[in-house]
Amino acid sequence: MARSNVLVTGGSGYIGSHVVLQLLLSKRYNVAVIDNSANSHPESIKRVEAIASEETGEKQQVRLFQGDLKKREDVESIFTYFEQNEDKQGLNGVIHIAALKAVGESAEKPVDYYLNNIAASIQLLDVMRQHNCFNFVYSSSATVYGEPPKVPIPEESPLQHESPYARTKVFFEYMLKDIANAQPDKWRIISLRYFNPAGAHPSGRIGEDPLGKPNNLLPLLAQISVGRSYGQLKVFGNDYPTYDGTCVRDYIHVMDLAAGHMNALDALPKDDIFHDVGPGKAKAYNLGTGQGQSVLTMIESMRKASGFDYQYQIVDRRPGDVPNLTADPALAQKELGFKTIRGLEEIGAYKDTSADTSNTQRIQHRDIWYKGSDGASVV
Ligand code: WQD
Repeated sequence: MARSNVLVTGGSGYIGSHVVLQLLLSKRYNVAVIDNSANSHPESIKRVEAIASEETGEKQQVRLFQGDLKKREDVESIFTYFEQNEDKQGLNGVIHIAALKAVGESAEKPVDYYLNNIAASIQLLDVMRQHNCFNFVYSSSATVYGEPPKVPIPEESPLQHESPYARTKVFFEYMLKDIANAQPDKWRIISLRYFNPAGAHPSGRIGEDPLGKPNNLLPLLAQISVGRSYGQLKVFGNDYPTYDGTCVRDYIHVMDLAAGHMNALDALPKDDIFHDVGPGKAKAYNLGTGQGQSVLTMIESMRKASGFDYQYQIVDRRPGDVPNLTADPALAQKELGFKTIRGLEEIGAYKDTSADTSNTQRIQHRDIWYKGSDGASVV
């Protein structure tokens, strides 16, 4: 069967690279990536190609377009490429992952967040419709729930935006419904509300390595365990109404999360999943495990996985944190056939550290980094 041509925006990043890998492993998609390397490196695509080629026994290639979604010509060029090259069938769908995603930073740089996460995304949809491409999977976030009235959180939980970042996700979901309602016979849109992505491909060759000190708990724990020091590990509050007083989150293995994107892409042609959302075919699904884990549980889990003896200090709550964000995953399971199969053990899976003196490559806790020739830290 001919492969569909799919564009993954942000495909060099932590989540994007795992999504690209899943698409390649399925052998059902020709994959293109646009990425501006703002928080990733093209090297990760080479690694994804290598992993996919090894695991499928066939050479797998990605069409990588170094570009910026804010530049219309960069986006146009990809659609034109697929209309004039390969099978000349054009792009069949887009998985839109590229975004700025730090809650705290979004309050300092709201214009950057609205430009990147909303303006550029709207422009992408405009280019899509001009090229007759109407299949769209959107990377949304559990952050759209704010502090939910009940946990586990179902998709019908009220959308509450408590940061510019959260607003970019909530506002864009509403825009997607408007767009789908305007052309119900054309657009097919699924928004995926990620809970807390964690872990990486067991090879350790792709993973999460944000520039600078990680904001998020898991990459921070991973990097501390192999010697990156960022001072005392702080636990932000232990007076929350949770089983041990520390915040509870739904940590979903990034490979399960990536598989969820395939489930969504495969479900788009099915009319029945949209039966309850009115004329326009746009719908949101949670991607989570349904199991909440506290900060202390995750520290203990990573201690077991790495043997590293974390020392931490309980400090004041971090502004904006909510006690518990745990998904009700039932709808995605029922309608997309989505099921998480990895747990804490896989999230903490530990690769033997092997120092590669040629470029001081170290593999650790699914995070990987090496100092390239220019000394830049790349993934
Ligand atoms: C998890 C828990 C912290 C660091 C964020 C974004 C969200 C989404 C996922 C994009 C919290 C605690 C953390 C530390 C700590 N990103 N913590 N000490 O805040 O649930 O979600 O990433 O969509 O939008 O908000 O993840 O990993 O930052 O924090 O105690 O040094 O770990 O307080 O309770 P969070 P996180």
